Amino acid sequence: MTAFKPLVFSGVQPTGNLHLGNYLGAIKKFVALQDTSDCIYCVVDLHSLTAQLVHEDLKDQTRAITAAFLASGIDPKKHIVFNQSRVMQHAELAWIFNCVARIGWMNRMTQFKDKAGKDRENASLGLLAYPSLMAADILVYRATHVPVGDDQKQHLELTRDIAQKFNNDFSDRIAGLGVGVEMNVGEETVNGFFPLTEPIIGGPAARIMSLRDGSKKMSKSDPSDLSRINLTDDADSISKKIRKAKTDPEALPGELDGLAGRPEAENLVGIYAGLAEISKEAVLKEFGGQQFSVFKPALADLAVEKLAPVAGEMRRISGDRAYVDAVLSDGGERAGLLAEATMKTVRDIIGLLQG
Ligand code: TYM
Repeated sequence: MTAFKPLVFSGVQPTGNLHLGNYLGAIKKFVALQDTSDCIYCVVDLHSLTAQLVHEDLKDQTRAITAAFLASGIDPKKHIVFNQSRVMQHAELAWIFNCVARIGWMNRMTQFKDKAGKDRENASLGLLAYPSLMAADILVYRATHVPVGDDQKQHLELTRDIAQKFNNDFSDRIAGLGVGVEMNVGEETVNGFFPLTEPIIGGPAARIMSLRDGSKKMSKSDPSDLSRINLTDDADSISKKIRKAKTDPEALPGELDGLAGRPEAENLVGIYAGLAEISKEAVLKEFGGQQFSVFKPALADLAVEKLAPVAGEMRRISGDRAYVDAVLSDGGERAGLLAEATMKTVRDIIGLLQG
């Protein structure tokens, strides 16, 4: 437990279509957390530059993710919704974190290794430093909790490492300025300026896999559209993709243990559980002993029932560009005030001369 004010932050990149993995692994959690916490949800457009610098439709992609947030039920009046590049303090803190973090930490990131491939020397510096910007996104608000899918776990561990190193490196100045907050780290109580942020990962949908290959995660970048359900897919496409999803010839087991070694079956059960908001055990209780010829149509019906209203609402909201832009501009202003308050203190801690 920290003595920091609880605050939720998370981000989604404006690259490609949002898919069921983003929705179940992240956005549904964003929506649920609104009842219990103050939340800041960000379309991380600066992050998307690491994948593609020249991006003709970046503005529209940014609006589309915003529309998905709003269509899913995020309330931009009670909470904050904005796009990252409006608040330049993210980039400022990221630069400071670039000087705190070590190159070795970045080199160990599995997402960097995957994305850079064999030719690492030729990857952009931005791709290498990506987790430093992500840490800045979170810590510029001193956010305490971050809901994400399982693939972001390593980046959040790095965020804690950066916060801890900053707190240690500047401990005397933090104490001298009286800007530290007490928190428990293991057995110890320490004083630090940045919280050690907790990830919120878990539930049956923390890692949704490709519908074509149960060993690969569902991803925007998979060349096969059959591998994912996009939030914008119509009922026919959703049903077709589930019908064509790879499975094995066995019936569904009655217990979780029976899913071991059956990644495709496990994935479909996880998707059902995520959509129905029940556990995988509960799904198996209902469908154990049934063939996929029975389970797949039930899953398709459930997916259409849950996703069609979101898709419809996304279309409606996307049609009102002025509204979407106003949400982002208002959110950006409110986020900017919070971020600037943090940065004033950070500049003092570091000893930058400011007016
Ligand atoms: P991004 O844009 O790739 O994905 C957005 C969110 O969707 C989750 N997700 C999944 N969850 C379950 N199964 C899947 N197959 C799946 N695919 C994606 C991701 O885990 C994520 O929660 N680096 C982040 C964006 C980011 C961020 C941040 C997140 C930038 N700054 C600060 C949290 C806090 C990313 O690329 O997510």
